[in-house]
Amino acid sequence: MYTLTSVSKRYRRGKQTINALDSIDLTIDRGDQLVVQGPTGGGKSTLLQLLGGLDRPTTGSIVLDGTDLAKLSEAKLTKVRATTVGFVFQSWNLIPTLNARENVETALVPLGVRPGERRRRAAQALESVGLGERLTHLPGELSGGQQQRVAIARAIVKEPKVLLADEPTGNLDEDMRDEVMSVLESLWRERGLTFVMVTHDSAIARRAPRLAVIRKGRIKVSENAAA
Ligand SMILES: Nc1ncnc2c1ncn2[C@@H]1O[C@H](COP(=O)(O)OP(=O)(O)OP(=O)(O)O)[C@@H](O)[C@H]1O
Ligand SMILES: [Mg+2]
Repeated sequence: MYTLTSVSKRYRRGKQTINALDSIDLTIDRGDQLVVQGPTGGGKSTLLQLLGGLDRPTTGSIVLDGTDLAKLSEAKLTKVRATTVGFVFQSWNLIPTLNARENVETALVPLGVRPGERRRRAAQALESVGLGERLTHLPGELSGGQQQRVAIARAIVKEPKVLLADEPTGNLDEDMRDEVMSVLESLWRERGLTFVMVTHDSAIARRAPRLAVIRKGRIKVSENAAA
């Protein structure tokens, strides 16, 4: 699915250069789950952005199903983002004036899906995250965990191959954290998604089949045979 070879990402700020990622090699197979941990500023979000085509590496290649994302034109990269990759962030960024279903539909607009089909698929995605009864609620009328589940529905409604989550439970209290994690876990299992998640939650990391620790731009991956 993914093969990263010697991937570096450098940010230049005036005279200062920051090596956010420093010559990383990594493979992620189709249907894998990779949990990413590490200290703040280590390069976790940078890695997710590169995997999702939100940014390009300074050097190195990021091959996704035979295509090097580092070499794609901006237009082609935009297409990959719209069709292949679903993103979930710590802050769910829902549009407050749109109801749950309309928020989910926004992911299908750039794909040219017709309104009737959009509504049907959005309702289905919301059902799959357990919000079939909340289609017409505004974000302000939903709990934090429910709002994050709307954001997850928005990420998966286009039926992406890859789901990337950057601290998806970071803004939630413990009950809601479990609720959101179990939704993500079951989507990963049921849909055969390739799933990469950054988390500070060590209980989640212990359960992960594969764990990557990123520290000062360097990565170390370990397999967990027990998971
Ligand atoms: N757009 C940018 N311009 C300049 N430097 C940046 C930029 N984005 C990230 N950095 C720097 O790159 C390094 C890695 O940042 P990154 O956001 O990937 O860390 P992180 O592991 O996700 O941290 P956190 O746990 O705090 O979210 C940091 O030193 C950060 O300051
Ligand atoms: Mg981060």
